Amino acid sequence: MRSFIAAAAAALAVALAGAAQAEGPVVIKFSHVVAPDTPKGKGAEKFKELAEQYTKGRVKIELYPNSQLYKDKEEMEALQLGAVQMLAPSLAKFGPLGVKDFEVFDLPYILPGKAALRAVTDGAIGRKLFARLEPKGIKGLAFWDNGFKVMSANKPLRMPDDFKGLKMRVQSSKVLEAQMRALGAIPQILAFSEVYQALQTGVVDGSENTPSNMYTQKHHEVQKFITLSDHGYIGYAVIVNKKFWDALEPGIRADLERAMADATKFANDISQQENDAALEAIRKAGTSTFITLTDDQKAAWRKALLPVYDEMASRVGKDTIDEFEREAKAAGTN
Ligand code: LMR
Repeated sequence: MRSFIAAAAAALAVALAGAAQAEGPVVIKFSHVVAPDTPKGKGAEKFKELAEQYTKGRVKIELYPNSQLYKDKEEMEALQLGAVQMLAPSLAKFGPLGVKDFEVFDLPYILPGKAALRAVTDGAIGRKLFARLEPKGIKGLAFWDNGFKVMSANKPLRMPDDFKGLKMRVQSSKVLEAQMRALGAIPQILAFSEVYQALQTGVVDGSENTPSNMYTQKHHEVQKFITLSDHGYIGYAVIVNKKFWDALEPGIRADLERAMADATKFANDISQQENDAALEAIRKAGTSTFITLTDDQKAAWRKALLPVYDEMASRVGKDTIDEFEREAKAAGTN
């Protein structure tokens, strides 16, 4: 009986999608939390352009950047409910969904470079992570790059001791909370859209993010020091509501897959230069002093952050960490 109901529901979903396609363009609402002028914002615009072109207007992509529609937590719920069809959350934001393995990307220094990143996302780990989303009604389409993180505060952060007692904003990842605690700071989870105000009013003392995210949200205007630490990574999973995706007409789905593959290449190609340009723009703004760590300071950060691996092994999965490190190492350091 249950499988009959499931089959009938699936047939109805396909019929509804078919009917919608017959009446007008299929609309895909793509919501995200960053500015249009960022690697993810530009990737989303490229996807819109290509998807509408390849489907010859049979699909319309509506972009909602800057948390216009939903904040971090709400957008995940909206996707599962079908209120939006597409998102690209940071890999650090899948824990609350119950898919904790994504937080492996948040482990300090786990990625030696971009070649390693590509090997991991395009390989067995990438496939395994996407498979974990399906029981949640979500399908993973692509991994998009942002970049390596810097740390900001109103005091210079050179040694782990400098973090003592500071309230540091993190994304909703237990690994990032553990990271800040290992440095002696007090982690505070905040939605991305709330960070600027929290920094400005002193609700938090500092933050970590990519230069592109900091610049486009004007964090540098309220943070006197930025440490070029490259201690961790921010990237995205582009995800869709699975029921919606599976009910699309196969020809349309194939066009969208092609648009996604091309937009992914575009987004990943521009990410480094976007972050370099943002760092330069922050430098020119003159509001924050940049701190470059000495070798001894870098070593002290690594030493302080190493225990996070053991502490988080049971959450993220020891196997996943080992596999990640093996694949990353095999790919080299670039
Ligand atoms: C953050 O919350 O800091 C980032 O995940 C925002 C983003 O989507 O890049």
